Formats: sequence, C-alpha cells, structure tokens
Amino acid sequence: MIWRGVIDRYKKYLPVTEATLVVTLHEGNTPLIYSDVLSRLLSAAVYLKYEGMNPTGSFKDRGMTLAVSKALEAHSKMVICASTGNTSASAAAYAAKAGIKSVVLIPKGAVALGKLSQALIHNAQVVSIDGNFDQALQLAKEIAEKWPVTLVNSLNPFRLEGQKTGAFEICDQLDGRAPDFHAIPVGNAGNISAYWKGYKEYFKNKKIYSKPVMLGFQAQGAAPIVKKRIILNPKTVATAIKIGNPASWRMAEEARDESGGLIGAVTDKEILEAYKLLASREGIFVEPASAASVAGILKLGRKRYFQNRRSRKKKIIVCILTGHGLKDPDSALREIKNPQAVPARLDAILAAVKI
Ligand code: F0G
Repeated sequence: MIWRGVIDRYKKYLPVTEATLVVTLHEGNTPLIYSDVLSRLLSAAVYLKYEGMNPTGSFKDRGMTLAVSKALEAHSKMVICASTGNTSASAAAYAAKAGIKSVVLIPKGAVALGKLSQALIHNAQVVSIDGNFDQALQLAKEIAEKWPVTLVNSLNPFRLEGQKTGAFEICDQLDGRAPDFHAIPVGNAGNISAYWKGYKEYFKNKKIYSKPVMLGFQAQGAAPIVKKRIILNPKTVATAIKIGNPASWRMAEEARDESGGLIGAVTDKEILEAYKLLASREGIFVEPASAASVAGILKLGRKRYFQNRRSRKKKIIVCILTGHGLKDPDSALREIKNPQAVPARLDAILAAVKI
C-alpha cells in the first residue's frame, strides 16, 4: 500500500474535510529505531524517532502539509515564514507542490547551508535579515497581518495540528502504547506543544492508556524557558534552536507541567558529543539541534533520573531526532578532521589507514 502522508493516515484527528485539497509529499511514517547504545547507557529501552527521514529532511513537513493545504482551501496565493532554516525549506517545498508563492525571512549568516539551498531551489523569495530569528518572526507576523499572505510559522494552528501526528505514529509503532518519556529539542516550542496535544488526544480516544513525561531541551545559550526570561542575543552551535523568545512558550510550559516533566538546558559541548555519538555508534546522522534530545537524556541519566522511578521495569524513552545531518554539512566538517590527499599508491594509502 502506498503511504499517502499524515493527513490521509490521520484525517479523523485533523481539521480537514472532503473539500480540502491535500498538498502532500507523503511525509510521516518515519522510522522508530531502537538504540542499542543509549538503551545500554540508560538501562532503558531507548527509541529514536528519525524525523530527518521526512521529504524535506525535518519534522516540519508534518505541519506544513496541513498549513499549506488549508492555505489553498482559503484561496491564499502566498505563504510567508521566518525561519532558522527547516521551516523555510519545508514551506518552500510545499508551496512549490501547491503551485503558490513563498517568502521566507531568515537571520543573516545563521542558517545551515542545506536548508538555505532548499529554500532557494524550491523558488522561495528568500530575504536574509540583519537580525535574529525572533526579529524575523515579528516581521513575518506583521506582514501576514497587513497583506494577503498566510503565515506558516507554528503560530498558524494548522502547523501544530499536523505535527501532533508524530505522537500518533510513535504510539502506533509501539503497538498501542505511549512511551514513558518523550525527549525533544525545544526552539520556538511548537513541536513539544504539538506532541503533547497528540498524546492527549490519543489518550482521550483510548488509543493509549498512559501519557509520557515530556522532557524538552534547549541549548544553554538559547534557553529562555529554562531561565524564565527572554534571551535577546541567543547563542548556540545548534542554529535551528537559536531562539530567545519562543512563540509557544506558554504551551510548552503546560506540556511540561501537565506531564510532570521538565525543560532543561544542554551545553553546545554536550550537544556535539551526542551528535557524534549518534553518527559514529548508531549510524544516524542528524543536525546538531536534533542531538539536544539525546544530550538531554544522557545528562538526566548521569543524574540517575530514570532509575529513581518507582517500578523496576525498563522504561521506554523516545527521542525525537528532528532534522537530517545533511542539512548542515559544515557542522560535521568542523567536528571531524578533513582527509588529507595522498599519492594514488597502495603504500601511501596503507600508511594513512589502519587495516
Ligand atoms: N530541531 C530542528 C532541526 C528545528 O529546525 C527546530 C525548529 C527545532 C528542533 C525546534 O522545534 O521550534 O518546534 O521547538 N526550527 C524552526 C525553523 C524554528 O525555523 O526551522 P520547535
């Protein structure tokens, strides 16, 4: 059977009608991969939800299929977003598929190469602004209020509706149960809010009989929710989550508090260690921001967070790996030494490698 995307699969739970023209690139149905290394390190069953396997390489596609389908339904001719890169790549691709225009506002010099190339090749009008993501979002909002352009940032409620399908998929993949813990990077805070909404809806519909504890992780230099204040000049290597004033701040706190979870901070060093561990030990290449969820559970593991719980049974932890590593090749090349050229001779090769 052909997988036809998240709207087709989960329409019962989504605000669509027969009249909705579905714009899809067959997003969703991403692998939930058991991690041997992390399971051993944490004495738990750790699964990695590899959202980098979506059509444009990030989880944004789940929300964008719905946001762009609904924009078409409302006869919109253009979408706009501010982005640290992935939203713009996704918006540009889905707008191209829908045959409408897209405008993306990005912070100058702070968007990874792969993402920028995606927005450009899908024909978005890309405007690089001399400011950060939070400023770009403010401007995108203002434009969408004054001109006939649909905002497709996660302030658009259809984005979160689409993204909640990630939670449904995890529970379906775990044969009708929810994980005990759900770990996720937090930037603009839409995704953590969407997942929590998804789990609550599946619970209400008796598809699952428990809900996970939500564990969100921000980068230390861009951790407004952890620090309880807006960060005017956020800093982190994880450019995707370099955000100082998240749009869904309140909803993320609700997800944390209702689930009995936490939102914590991880340092760039911890992020990059997790990034390299995933690539070198699990064969999974993610972008740095995605590794924040793994860095976070490793940090909690060191504090014996998962062992302190009442039952002895192995807990299920699901980590969302939000974006593909190929989005940001520069980060990988910065972390690992580039190969030196050697003469095209056997002895030179044997001198350069250990066999
Ligand atoms: N991971 C990646 C790879 C992202 O691109 C983002 C957000 C997040 C995590 C955080 O998700 O914002 O829902 O809390 N990227 C947005 C963008 C901001 O513009 O692409 P969030």
